[in-house]
Amino acid sequence: MLHTVYELASGPLVWLAFAVFILGSLYRLLTMGRLAARKDPMVFNYMSVYYALRSIAYWIIPYASLNMRRHPVMTAVAFVFHICLIAVPIFLSAHIVLIHEAWEVHWWYIPNQAADIMTLMVVAACIFFLCRRLSLPDVRYLTTPSDYIILAAVALPFVTGFWAYHQFPGHVAAGILHMLSGEAVLMMIPFTRLSHMLFFPFIRGYAGSEFGAVRHAKDW
Ligand code: HEM
Ligand code: HEM
Repeated sequence: MLHTVYELASGPLVWLAFAVFILGSLYRLLTMGRLAARKDPMVFNYMSVYYALRSIAYWIIPYASLNMRRHPVMTAVAFVFHICLIAVPIFLSAHIVLIHEAWEVHWWYIPNQAADIMTLMVVAACIFFLCRRLSLPDVRYLTTPSDYIILAAVALPFVTGFWAYHQFPGHVAAGILHMLSGEAVLMMIPFTRLSHMLFFPFIRGYAGSEFGAVRHAKDW
């Protein structure tokens, strides 16, 4: 039984997860573009590459925006979280070895000890986001059960990956749970609030163009 789940999780489900992630992301971007063209066609007239890129730059540089300076701790945690969250799965030696075995391609990897620390930082950041949602009344008011589910889903591949790598008791099950949870997160990206990854450049581009080209004001 465990063997069958392992075979599934390490083979066909990896393909399924990447296919749903890539095709689902394209589908969401295309349908959102079509919706914008139908409901708010003016958007395309005042979209400006210059103002869009300027706004994106101000929102991806730590503390460049007023909102980030107003929430210094949240900003630091959110930046560390996103950097580790994206860098660890792409530059983890264990992942690169699997890709090398399958396709004979490989790239630079993070030393294992650093990957361990970055993994723990992601988990710590998820605990911070959870505490923030529970303790700040205005954030709590805006929180729905799906926000907690998303946080848990994002943390799970990191907890189980760490568990399997360090061969803690039950590491075989943790390894299987790792693959299943990693695949689940990938498939969730296009269809949940995690799609902010896809829409971020467009949301900032839209706000940046309107504020820059129409209102002649800052949006950061
Ligand atoms: C899609 C299928 C995936 C497969 C087949 C896979 C496979 C693996 C393997 C074999 C390990 C090493 C564990 C061991 O030594 O037993 C590992 C570790 C790890 N993986 Fe994945 N993984 C997948 C997806 C993901 C995703 C999506 C994430 C993050 C979002 C992720 C994050 C991690 C982390 C954080 C570790 C442990 C790093 C450490 O503590 O040093 N993995 N993974
Ligand atoms: C690469 C592009 C991405 C960008 C530009 C981005 C940007 C952001 C921003 C601006 C926030 C809000 C932080 C705040 O309120 O100060 C956020 C929150 C968050 N992001 Fe991302 N993100 C990206 C990718 C991802 C990915 C790939 C995941 C997970 C798979 C993710 C998971 C989260 C989570 C869980 C939160 C919210 C934490 C909470 O308040 O509960 N992000 N992101």
